[in-house]
Amino acid sequence: MKKVIITGAKGMLGQEIVRVFSSDPLWQVVGWDFENLDITDAKSVEHKLTAAEPQLVINCAAYNNVDGAEHDLEKARLLNVHAVENLARTTHVLGATFVHYSTDYVFDGTNVSGYQEDDKPNPQSVYAKTKAEGEGATRQNPNHYVIRLSRLFGTPAASAAAKKSFVDVMLTLAEKQSSIDVIDGEFSSPTYAPDLARATYDMVRLQSPFGTYHRTNDGACTWCAFAKGIFRVAGKQISIQPVSPEKFPRPAARPSFSQLLTTKLPPLRTWQEALAEYLGT
Ligand SMILES: NC(=O)c1ccc[n+]([C@@H]2O[C@H](COP(=O)([O-])OP(=O)(O)OC[C@H]3O[C@@H](n4cnc5c(N)ncnc54)[C@H](OP(=O)(O)O)[C@@H]3O)[C@@H](O)[C@H]2O)c1
Repeated sequence: MKKVIITGAKGMLGQEIVRVFSSDPLWQVVGWDFENLDITDAKSVEHKLTAAEPQLVINCAAYNNVDGAEHDLEKARLLNVHAVENLARTTHVLGATFVHYSTDYVFDGTNVSGYQEDDKPNPQSVYAKTKAEGEGATRQNPNHYVIRLSRLFGTPAASAAAKKSFVDVMLTLAEKQSSIDVIDGEFSSPTYAPDLARATYDMVRLQSPFGTYHRTNDGACTWCAFAKGIFRVAGKQISIQPVSPEKFPRPAARPSFSQLLTTKLPPLRTWQEALAEYLGT
């Protein structure tokens, strides 16, 4: 039996990674969240991982507050860069494979055709810079997968502080409002957490070559088109007011076009199909 350790195991993605590996009797699954292991505590990480002797470590913990990072650089770097460096170094010493997740925001968003896996990142915000540095840190272990995703949605994270998905934010707003302002821009691909978890599991199982991958659901949309899709699938009559990104100022810059193109593996199902499954329709 092989052992996989999942950090950030109570997050939106982490809980799905735990679920998919637990369904395979070949894997012994150990899920750690903040209360079991603070991944910014370098000594504890080295100590606990060395004692556990895993063959695979999947890090789902991250500093995900895109706007907050603009004023919280140290905290974002600690979690998204230094902790990842330490995980990569420790897994390398142990001979374990290291999986880490990144974002479409590492790209500047000027390429309207989207970005391939090996295109050069050019991050435009503090959060994006720390995630791009985290990719570099991951590569210190040659046996790595850097998996980029965007717009994660799925069952809300078990941990209290975790970020709410756009899907759940929209459905909550629809309980109180009959009309919602939504940004008509920022073209990118939604990612359903169970699909990404299954895709990660498949890459490990099928021994895909180590490297950088894009694993979002197929297709892309603006926030406005995503919101329309959500309300259509949920059967809610909500009036959506398109708002230009400039009229919706946020502290951190976002890419205008950041579709993650999948050239190394077959595409996943479309985001509309995944959304229908999530909303149970
Ligand atoms: N969500 C998105 O739309 C999105 C988009 C692009 C890329 N990504 C990437 O996808 C990955 C998974 O994201 P997610 O949305 O599933 O994250 P999430 O729901 O915020 O989960 C992160 C988990 O990590 C835990 N955690 C935070 N700090 C920790 C620490 N120091 N040590 C150990 N655990 C800690 C959190 O616990 P607490 O909640 O208790 O702090 C939470 O359970 C991340 O790499 C993220 O950057 C996400």
